[in-house]
This record gives sequence, structure tokens and C-alpha cells, in this order.
Amino acid sequence: MQNDSGNTVSVWMATAEEIPSDGALGADAKADICIVGAGIAGITTAYLLAREGVSVLVLDDGAIGGSMTGRTTAHLVNALDDRFYDLESYHGEKGARLAAGSHTAAIDKVEAIVKEEAIDCEFERVDGYLFTPPDESKEQLDRELKATHRAGLETELVKRAPVESFDTGQALRFPNQAQFHPLKYLAGLAASIRKRGGRIHTGTHAAKIEGGAEARIETESGHVVTARAVVVATNTPVNDLVAIHTKQAPYITYVIGARIPRGSVARALYWDTPDPYHYVRLESINTDNSNEGYDVLIVGGEDHKTGQADDFEERYQRLEAWTRERFPMVEAVEYRWSGQVLEPIDGLAFIGRNPLDADNVYIATGDSGNGMTHGTIAGILLTDLIQGRGNKWETLYDPSRKTLKAIKEFAKENLNVAAQFVDYVTPGEVDSTDEIAPGEGAIIRHGLSKVAAYRDEAGALHERSAVCTHLGCIVDWNTKEKTWDCPCHGSRFDATGKVVMGPANSDLAVVDGEADN
Ligand SMILES: Cc1cc2nc3c(=O)[nH]c(=O)nc-3n(C[C@H](O)[C@H](O)[C@H](O)COP(=O)(O)OP(=O)(O)OC[C@H]3O[C@@H](n4cnc5c(N)ncnc54)[C@H](O)[C@@H]3O)c2cc1C
Ligand code: FES
Repeated sequence: MQNDSGNTVSVWMATAEEIPSDGALGADAKADICIVGAGIAGITTAYLLAREGVSVLVLDDGAIGGSMTGRTTAHLVNALDDRFYDLESYHGEKGARLAAGSHTAAIDKVEAIVKEEAIDCEFERVDGYLFTPPDESKEQLDRELKATHRAGLETELVKRAPVESFDTGQALRFPNQAQFHPLKYLAGLAASIRKRGGRIHTGTHAAKIEGGAEARIETESGHVVTARAVVVATNTPVNDLVAIHTKQAPYITYVIGARIPRGSVARALYWDTPDPYHYVRLESINTDNSNEGYDVLIVGGEDHKTGQADDFEERYQRLEAWTRERFPMVEAVEYRWSGQVLEPIDGLAFIGRNPLDADNVYIATGDSGNGMTHGTIAGILLTDLIQGRGNKWETLYDPSRKTLKAIKEFAKENLNVAAQFVDYVTPGEVDSTDEIAPGEGAIIRHGLSKVAAYRDEAGALHERSAVCTHLGCIVDWNTKEKTWDCPCHGSRFDATGKVVMGPANSDLAVVDGEADN
């Protein structure tokens, strides 16, 4: 499966075929609705619209599912990343209840689609367990138990999660969660969209997106798509300069996949409560097309703000040590990958009309670690808005909302962004490009400017301006993913400067008077 979002390979990418598409867009085109982004949010929206007979055209500059949907761990939950007592403080008791209901509905929707379309994607209902480490107060589980009950969830406190190899202590059980193989699920949706006459053009970068009487999307190669409305489902909106990006913050999160004997860990979802927390699930790998094989224990955590850490190897090692201590049946670590999540300051995604824009431009972003359900909610909610129907979740997820109770988080994240501009006056990381080993990158100072210099495996040097093309912060080298990551709002560029994640929508600039090599 094509991977266009980094250097590491997830268990999903390794175990799925490339998802067929209509190839790159080769001419101007017209559709009822144009959707930019073929991850879970864009593909679910396109699918639900196509089911209602709407003509849809999806554009993606990579492959279907080649970005964060291919790097997820695919827990489908109403046990949200933010505690329900925090969601109550931001959105009130009614808001927290609506949020819980929307995620429950999203899991049910995925299950219904899997059945109706007969998608073979390992969808499975499992329970989820939230536990606190021994050094943390158990009081938060009691508080969360009460808040989840007020939100309408049927949770219960149990003596311990059903893991035999270590005692989790008391845990909060969330019944009826689910898990699946995200790329096999997208493959089923994409096939159904195309069967219904929808088109999915991969390898096609949307360079300019405008709403108005008619939405107009111009691709990098100069073709134009016109549509009644456009949905920008690019994980973080590439058509919004500031409004949304002050209300969410980018974090890199790490995952390992370790081989364990089949059945040696009970099938469930597990999370602990520290910040950042650990998240755990299982994936079964069958050998020789039989039901025999082994399980992969998938463990994630060690998050940090994008572009603001360089200890990548230590983070993987800490994740492995945490895992081996609690799951001694681990044989070998077969996968290591990372990805980016966007943390909204008030715990819920932004889904709806793009603020300060024409009425026919929609966005879906700010998933935190709940993008499988938020992406599905986006499909349901945006389909209703586009089709002129009311939806009870519209206000809760409105991208224009101002959550005054989240002002502390807002200030913390934006002061952190402001602090990144000090990078303009610090020295380069190396004095000469001779110090950069093959396969590595570093920031070097050229007079007043900073340059992102990468030496490829063959020894050739690639130099680009280190100034992020979103709002001008200085990018940082990510040696594991071979990307340049922006510490401000999470734009990411490949080693040679090509943009792979927004909000930036253009490549790092060519350095004056310099060319590759
Ligand atoms: C390690 C990790 C673990 C996670 N675990 C979970 C979990 O257990 N449960 C859960 O619910 N969520 C989880 N998440 C979050 C979830 O994976 C994401 O929120 C979700 O996949 C985002 O889907 P998306 O469709 O919004 O974005 P993406 O899947 O990133 O898709 C966006 C697409 O837009 C395309 N694009 C961008 N810009 C342009 C452009 N200008 N022109 C054309 N195309 C463009 C990209 O190529 C990409 O394919 C996790 C995330 C990570 C990284
Ligand atoms: S992502 Fe905003 S300045 Fe780089």
C-alpha cells in the first residue's frame, strides 16, 4: 500500500493492498460536491452523499488512506480522549451527552455500513478499559464514572481490566466499543463510491480552493473542478489561514506493533490516564490463509508537540519498555510508526462551515485521538448540512464556536506558537552541509536566512528555505519519518520540501541562487 505521509510503515499499510482509484485528474471536471482529502472523513462524506444520489468527486494528492487514516490505531470509541467531566465543563452536561451520543452513533454507523456493503475489514465489537497507574489517584475514575453516566453511557467500575500479565488495578469499563482495519474499511467505501458513479482522483493536489456561487478547486497541474459545494477533509484545513489553527494544536504520537502468541492478551481496548497516555489494542495476523497465526499487540503513546522534540528513538524505546514490563509475552517488535493528531482546545472536532468563508465551504478537523468516529460524524453531519437538513450535532461541532471555558488551553497553545519564532535568531544546527550524513537533514544558517538541508542516500544535497509556507515558523527535521515538521501548527514537508500535511498548502521555497545538488 502506498505511503505518502512518512518513512515508517504501519501494520495497516503492511497488510493492505493499494486501494484502486481513478488516477490523477487529467481535465477540468464538474460534480455536485467536490471533496478534498481521501482519509476517513473525506471518503465517509463522499460515500454517504453518493448513497443519496449526489455526484461526488474526491481529490487527494497522495493515495486513498495514505495519510493519518493509514497511521491510526483504529479504536472506535465513545470513551473519548478528553474526560467527560472536562467535556461537561467546556460544553455543559447537555453538550457532553450529545458528544457521547454522536460517537456511539458513529460506531453504529460504521457497523451498519460494514454489513450493508459486506466489507471484510475485521470489524469487531470489544469492550474498552480505562485504568490509572498505581501512582495516580483513583478518584478520577470515580469522577469519570459519574460524568459518563450523566452523558448516557453504561460504564461500570471493575476490579481490574481483563489482562492477566499485570494488575491494572480498578478500571472503568466502556462496553460495546469496536475496532477494525481502517484501510480495508476505506477500500470497501471507495469501491462503493465508484460503483455509484463517484470519482476518486489520487495524485492530485488541490492548490486553490474557493467557495461562492459555485465552488472552484484548482489543481496544481492547472485543472479546475467546479461544484455546488466543497468539503475540505485534509485532516487540518489547507484553506484556512488562522481561524481554526489557533483553536487546535498538533501532536506527534508513536506506536509499536509487537508479535505475541495468539490469544495471550484478552481482546479489548485499553488506555491509561497519564498525559500523554498509552493506548493498546490487538490485531490478528493469519498465516497461510488459515485461522492460525499470531497477534500483534499495538501500543501507542509518548506524544509531544510536533516539531518540538528530537528524542525520537528514546520515545520508541520507552514505549517498548512500558510494553515489555506489562506484557512479558512480547516476542519481537515488528512495527514502529508515528503520526500526527490535532488536539482541539475544547476536546471536540470542528465540523461544519469554514469560518470567515463562503457558505458552501465545509471543513472537518480537530479530531484529537478520536478521528475514526469524528471522521464518521463528519460524514453524517456534512451530508445533512449539504442536503439542507437539520442535524442535532451542528452547534456542538460548529467550527466557529468560541468556548470561553477553554481560554486557558487557548492561551497555552498560542503562547507556545509565539515562542517558536525565537528560531529566527538561533544559530543553525550545523555549520556546514558537510556535517550532514546521507539520509539526514539539518537546519543551516545562510546569512540572515535559515535553510532546510537534506542529503539523500546517494549523497546529493537538497536545500530549501526552512520557513514554513503557512505562517513562517522555522521547520524541524524528523529523522524517523524523514520529514520537516513545523512546530507552530503542524505542517509537514517531505525531505525535499514537498508539502505532505497542512495547513501549509505549498512546498518549501527554493533557496535563492541555489538548486538541488
Ligand atoms: C498514531 C495515531 C493513532 C491514532 N489512533 C486513533 C484511534 O485509535 N482512534 C481514532 O478514532 N483515531 C485515532 N487517530 C486519529 C485518526 O487516525 C485521524 O484523526 C484520522 O485518521 C484523520 O482522518 P482524516 O480523513 O481527517 O485525515 P487523513 O487520513 O490524514 O486524510 C486527509 C487526506 O487529505 C489529503 N490532502 C491534504 N492536503 C491536500 C491537498 N491540498 N490536495 C489534495 N489532497 C490533500 C492527504 O493526502 C490525505 O490523504 C490516531 C492518529 C494517529 C496518528
Ligand atoms: S504550520 Fe503554521 S507556521 Fe508552519
